[in-house]
Amino acid sequence: MRKLFFLLLITANFILVACSDNVEATGPVTSDGRYSAAAGQVLYAQHCTVCHGEAGRGDGPTADALNPKPADFTDHELRDSRTPAERFDIINNGVASTGMPPWGAALSEDEIWAVLYYEWSLANGSEGTAAGKQIFEANCAVCHGEVGRGDGSIAESLETSPADFTDHEFMSTRSNQDLFNVITNGKTPMPSWEAALDEDQRWQVISYLRSFSFQPAVPGVILAEPTSRPEGVPPSFQQDVLPIFIANCVRCHSGESPPNGLRLIDYENVMKGSLYLPIIIPGEPEKSLIYIMTNIGTMPAVGNPLSETQVQTIYDWIADGALDN
Ligand code: HEC
Ligand code: HEC
Ligand code: HEC
Repeated sequence: MRKLFFLLLITANFILVACSDNVEATGPVTSDGRYSAAAGQVLYAQHCTVCHGEAGRGDGPTADALNPKPADFTDHELRDSRTPAERFDIINNGVASTGMPPWGAALSEDEIWAVLYYEWSLANGSEGTAAGKQIFEANCAVCHGEVGRGDGSIAESLETSPADFTDHEFMSTRSNQDLFNVITNGKTPMPSWEAALDEDQRWQVISYLRSFSFQPAVPGVILAEPTSRPEGVPPSFQQDVLPIFIANCVRCHSGESPPNGLRLIDYENVMKGSLYLPIIIPGEPEKSLIYIMTNIGTMPAVGNPLSETQVQTIYDWIADGALDN
């Protein structure tokens, strides 16, 4: 068992060296100053799926060999019990005597936050965030402000300033359970919301409060499975095509020196193609290398071939002009 851990660590290190600097194209922080779970998703596919599994269930290919098992990110009780700062420490420093490696040397702080908020959102995606927004605007904005900065219309008349939810340092020291408790019990001069909001509504508003810290990956879409599009609707790059590459290709096709220089991490890079040739000819799937190779199963080079639906999605997207949609 010892030997195996050691091997895994070496493998992890090797992957790190091979893929450092991987997200400069998308960037771990969005232009509005939040962490990007989409950039986190790319990092997650590269570094974490091998143990934590594609959907975060703790069931990656190496999980069987590990004791304790990799954390299950779909377990929201585990997530809700931790502050983001605690999870940051775990990812940064690893967990001694377990298979969880330290990532501090390989990932920048911003990259760690980005991957953290991606795995954070695997427990329930962005479910509840839209409902939470309405609850927030109706009940909380008057003090906490429309965009959560603590500057609502009656904020100045209060003896204590309302919390600023865009202050990441503040939010990262509260677990979801901490937020739930304060919202339930109140904190003078904030009233208790126990009577006005049921438990589901309190969790929904928390999901919205977290969205001040990060921008969700692809709204409503988590990883590999192609969405069911209504008949006749052409695939969208962001919703349908990119998730296929993220789940099946970026663990090789990303980083500083990917195979043949081909990085399948975003629209710009996909269209740029490899060092040798474009891999997509808009409107002509039959002449597009990426379709040819996934169709006959040469790519992915290792692992299961893409499903028929996935190959068809790539075909349809190219046939429709390979748009950035
Ligand atoms: C080589 C296997 C392996 C890899 C790769 C790995 N992990 Fe882990 N991870 C584990 C194991 C095992 C645990 C459970 C440790 C424990 O039980 O204390 C764990 C636990 C965690 C936890 C703690 C969850 C909690 O709240 O207790 C987080 C967060 C985490 N991993 C994030 C990541 C991220 C992010 C990555 C990729 C950057 C990653 N891990 C890559 C094996 C791995
Ligand atoms: C009457 C004004 C007011 C309203 C309305 C209000 N709050 Fe507050 N809230 C405050 C004030 C003031 C604080 C800071 C209290 C303190 O630090 O002592 C606060 C703090 C908080 C905190 C942070 C507590 C902590 O320190 O961890 C959360 C979370 C919170 N409010 C959520 C909400 C939610 C959710 C709603 C709507 C359902 C809401 N608030 C509505 C005034 C308000
Ligand atoms: C296990 C690593 C790995 C995975 C996963 C992988 N590839 Fe590759 N890919 C390679 C290697 C290595 C090459 C170079 C092969 C060669 O030159 O013979 C390559 C080459 C390619 C090329 C040809 C580029 C050129 O200019 O010759 C395309 C297109 C491609 N891959 C697409 C994909 C797609 C699409 C996926 C996901 C569905 C994928 N790959 C998954 C390793 C991988």
